[in-house]
Amino acid sequence: MAELTEKVKDFFTSAKINKSTLMDVLSEFLAVEMGGQKLYEKALTLVSDSEVKTKFREFHRQTIKHQKVLTEVIHKLGGNTRAQSAGAKVATEKAQALLRSMDGNGLSKDQAELNAIENIVLAETKDHADWELIGKIARQSNDDRLREVLGAAASEVEQEEDEHLNWTRKKLGELQMESLTKGATSDKKSDSPKVEAPITKSSMKRTGGRARSRTKASSKSKSRARTTR
Ligand SMILES: [Fe+2]
Ligand SMILES: [Fe+2]
Repeated sequence: MAELTEKVKDFFTSAKINKSTLMDVLSEFLAVEMGGQKLYEKALTLVSDSEVKTKFREFHRQTIKHQKVLTEVIHKLGGNTRAQSAGAKVATEKAQALLRSMDGNGLSKDQAELNAIENIVLAETKDHADWELIGKIARQSNDDRLREVLGAAASEVEQEEDEHLNWTRKKLGELQMESLTKGATSDKKSDSPKVEAPITKSSMKRTGGRARSRTKASSKSKSRARTTR
């Protein structure tokens, strides 16, 4: 959800929205929701964490609802949902690329699960931004009809989008940390870490400007002493 101060500012800002551009953008947002549905369906075949499965089923249902909300918005504003804008076609291609990255990628089961969740975070980042913008247009537009239609849609969806992104992003971090600690050996940190002696001006002089470690220098002088004996 947009920052409260930003929201308050929006109510004091008036914007004249280009209707044709808005319809193209709404077509794109609908394509994002449709891609999101497919991504959840694919991700659900790859995740095994029960909490993730439950949440993804819920988010998948809500994503289908968001498509219906957007379809109604487009119809109410006189648009046609069958005509895809150029932006919508690109959004569809992006979703297909994410879907492809989940197939035959050579990842282990655990890695495939993390990859699937990461793809949902990527898709939800865009979805979240879309609905934030819809809310912003509703607050700033000087067109009463736009304010009414977009405002009602945003208040129905925005909170769900907050959860889609925030929950998934947090869970991804937790599971990544879990995978990093899995099977790790219990290496103890050394009590007295070895500290390299700092290179001083006088040691640089002795080595003719070449930085040489104290260990190497001392072993060389020791072997010289042995050969002169
Ligand atoms: Fe959505
Ligand atoms: Fe979403």
